[in-house]
Amino acid sequence: MGTLSLADSSQKIGAYEVLGDPIAAGGLGRVYKVRSAEGKICAAKVLAKEFLKDRKKKERFCSEYHILSRLHSPRIVKAVDLVQERGLCSIILEYVDGVELTQLLKAAPFPEEVALHLVMEISLAFQECHKHQLFHRDLKPENILISTKGQVKLIDFGVAKDQEISRTLQGTVLGTLEYMAPEQIERTSHEVDQRADLYALGVLTYEMLSRRLPIRIGTNDSIIKVLEKKNKHKIPQGKIGSQVLENFCSILTHPDPEERPQNIEEVIDFIRKYKKSTTLKSSFKDWLAGYWESESEKKSKKVPGPDPKPVQNDLPPPAKERKSPYQWLLFWLPACLMFLYALSYSTPFLKKILGKLAPLLEQVRSFFHLLLFFFS
Ligand SMILES: Nc1ncnc2c1ncn2[C@@H]1O[C@H](COP(=O)(O)OP(=O)(O)O)[C@@H](O)[C@H]1O
Ligand SMILES: [Mg+2]
Repeated sequence: MGTLSLADSSQKIGAYEVLGDPIAAGGLGRVYKVRSAEGKICAAKVLAKEFLKDRKKKERFCSEYHILSRLHSPRIVKAVDLVQERGLCSIILEYVDGVELTQLLKAAPFPEEVALHLVMEISLAFQECHKHQLFHRDLKPENILISTKGQVKLIDFGVAKDQEISRTLQGTVLGTLEYMAPEQIERTSHEVDQRADLYALGVLTYEMLSRRLPIRIGTNDSIIKVLEKKNKHKIPQGKIGSQVLENFCSILTHPDPEERPQNIEEVIDFIRKYKKSTTLKSSFKDWLAGYWESESEKKSKKVPGPDPKPVQNDLPPPAKERKSPYQWLLFWLPACLMFLYALSYSTPFLKKILGKLAPLLEQVRSFFHLLLFFFS
């Protein structure tokens, strides 16, 4: 099925002009590149139509905007606006021009410094969240963006949790199993705290350093089986060059939150002691410059072929094209009345068929004559 292009239909989300097809599709909706009235490029995360009537999902979706509005860090995507109109619900975010960490992981192996710089940036983003008693709960490569300028941005606070709110809510399993701490899977959400984010950070660190996940989860694995694997707590040995870093990943992914570092400051301290931040940053910059170069080389050598399948658009048509139910009424009501009016002229014939209705038709005819007289 073809994808409706929005580029030339001047489609809007509130005051924001939509620039083309969606750039990504996620669990609850799609993400579009948009332009504000002042000309600023932003990203709009739009809740999918099928969830608009689901009050809980809608609330959770909007809560991302409220959570982001409380956070102020260059390492966390900024919330710009919340648009609720024409039945749509959209979060407007700062646009990050770059790639997901997922893409970087597919590229050449990460030197230790590159991985540690990323761990440090994510830890600093977590520091801001945890300071506000907010827990991200869905750290994974898809939710980290690396801008073309080398900034690391944490995104997707869709399942983030506010400790205050959580006391009144019964938790459900939200997040991505591979990166999820066991307590996030088996307990109610109020028992999940910053240490669940540390667990996910441990999984991600191991993945960046070894290019594999510490625990593999099969698509058919039951929750019990997943918990069993996680509770065994055995990360594969010898896959990371440094024993110190292997221990670091192992302790972060301990199944018992009490046995993990208790807060993100401990992680930040560890990295600072292990390697100087400036060394990490400059190594990362050099590595990233090489990555962009190889990417542009690949693009220039690319054999022409079909473009990857675009994400299907989900927005309703522009407001001016949408037909209001009253428009139909405005057409059909006069049409029916005119029909009755015409019928009323053949009264002698209709008298036979319609019997008792004939006087009524006579009245309709008289009414129309009256109307015609009145308007002429
Ligand atoms: N602010 C942004 N700038 C650029 N791309 C973004 C932005 N926010 C999200 N995206 C893209 O959209 C994808 C889905 O967004 P995300 O917030 O993770 O939603 P979901 O909850 O659906 O996973 C991201 O993985 C990323 O590729
Ligand atoms: Mg996501």
